[in-house]
This record gives sequence, structure tokens and C-alpha cells, in this order.
Amino acid sequence: MFEPRLAAASLSGESDADWAKQAAPHVGCAFLGGIALDSATREAAREMVDRERTEFLPEDPIAFIDEQLTALESADVRAAFNVRSATLEPIAEAAAVCADHDAILEINAHCRQEEMCAAGAGQSLLRDGDRLCEQVATAADAGADVSVKVRTEVEGVDLPALSARLADAGADALHVDAMDSEPVVAEVAEAAPETFLIANNGVRDRATAYEYLEYGADAVSVGRPSDNPTVLRRIREAVDEWFTTGDRLDPEVSPDA
Ligand SMILES: Cc1cc2nc3c(=O)[nH]c(=O)nc-3n(C[C@H](O)[C@H](O)[C@H](O)COP(=O)(O)O)c2cc1C
Repeated sequence: MFEPRLAAASLSGESDADWAKQAAPHVGCAFLGGIALDSATREAAREMVDRERTEFLPEDPIAFIDEQLTALESADVRAAFNVRSATLEPIAEAAAVCADHDAILEINAHCRQEEMCAAGAGQSLLRDGDRLCEQVATAADAGADVSVKVRTEVEGVDLPALSARLADAGADALHVDAMDSEPVVAEVAEAAPETFLIANNGVRDRATAYEYLEYGADAVSVGRPSDNPTVLRRIREAVDEWFTTGDRLDPEVSPDA
């Protein structure tokens, strides 16, 4: 899916091509966005902006995705775009644009903001597996590699069982925000063994990266410190050691510099 096995994870309103370029020397993939695609999610994003959240709200979101991916073409990093939608048509359009750029289309089933959930997108999709699988199948049919951003600790959601369904629907990658439930990564790895598993939340150093890799993650991602080269550099070193040299150092005896 991408090498090296470290990604920069979406920060809405911040993760554009310039953000990805500054992370590119350290990461194998940069998840741009998230961006709201249809009228319901755009209205939700506007309400979120009204209460000080930062969001991308370009006039034409599909054209924006195309522009940003074009701007990133010269960078040595695989691009991905995180999208929110309550309807299928714009997902197909966004996925086709991603496919043209060999970028990954990431469906956001992660955002927990009330407005986005009320619009029928973000985390609310975790409780509606049929609709989420439909979104995945639509993006896959449009020719893109598909990732799904999910989170643990959502009441009533059996994430490993849902992960198996998403893999069957055509998801190539699962991007799991483990919250404070890191061992769930192992359960997802077991439930969807063929799917590329990116573990996220609190990855800051060798120890936190290795914890997820021990659980079976294929890669780790970094959100909030994705603009901090010192943090990215030390995680990159750790994942390279894990995957390239197989030198699985004990974090207790090899603390990060
Ligand atoms: C301000 C902010 C905006 C975010 N926007 C998005 C988003 O648009 N899409 C998404 O999937 N995750 C989004 N996230 C979640 C992050 O990608 C990441 O999952 C989370 O911050 C945990 O990882 P970290 O501990 O490395 O920051 C956002 C997080 C923050 C703090």
C-alpha cells in the first residue's frame, strides 16, 4: 500500500498538499482532508466552522481534491484523501479522481462531531454497516484503493466484525484510531487478515509504534504531531527497523533519543 510504513493522518482544514509536502521526507503516505463532499455534510461542516472548528469548504470539493492531488504529484509520497459523505454519487466521483492520481480514497467513519453524525456521515456510519459497506463498494468500483478510517470505543459497534465486512465489501486498508483500546488492533488484524492495517492514536516514539506493530498493524500513522519533523523522524526510524531490518529492538533498552 505504501512504504515506508508511516503515514500522516488527516487533520481537517490543515491537511492539504503543502502539509503533505513537509511530511513527505518522513512518511510513505499522507491522508489529506477530511473534506465534506455533499450538501448534508457541507452544511454540517459549516456549522462546525461556526463553532471554531477548522474545515476545508471549497466551492467545488471534487475539483479541490483534483487540484491538491495534482500539487502533490512531484512529491515522493503516496497521497490519500479522507472524505465525508452521506450520499454515494460524490464518493464515486472523488474515488475516480483519486484513481487517476493513484491516490487512496479514505472514507471517514471516524468524525464524532454531532453535526456530521446527524448528517449521516462520520462515526454514525459505524453503526450502519450496510451503508458504510455500500460507500466502500462504490469507491472500489470507481477504481480507487479504498481505506476506511474507523475508531474504537463506539458503543454498540463490534469493530472486528465490522472490519471483516468492510474487507468483503472491497476495503484495501483499515485505518484504526485505537483511542485507549490498543489491543483492539490485534482483533481487527485477526478479523481482516488480508487488509492493510494502519494503527493510529498516540504514536509518538519507538515504544508507541512497536506496541501497534506487535498487535499486527502493517503501518502506523501520526495526526497531531504530523508537522513535527523530530517526532516523524524517530517514528520513521522505528518502523524502518521493524520492517526493513527485522531488528525488533526492545523499547525498554533502546529508548528514543
Ligand atoms: C483538529 C483535528 C482534526 C481532525 N480531522 C480529521 C479528519 O478530518 N478526518 C479523520 O479521519 N480524522 C481526523 N482527525 C483525527 C486524526 O487523524 C487522528 O486520528 C487523531 O488525532 C489521533 O491520532 P494522533 O494521536 O496521532 O493525533 C482529526 C484530529 C484533530 C485533532
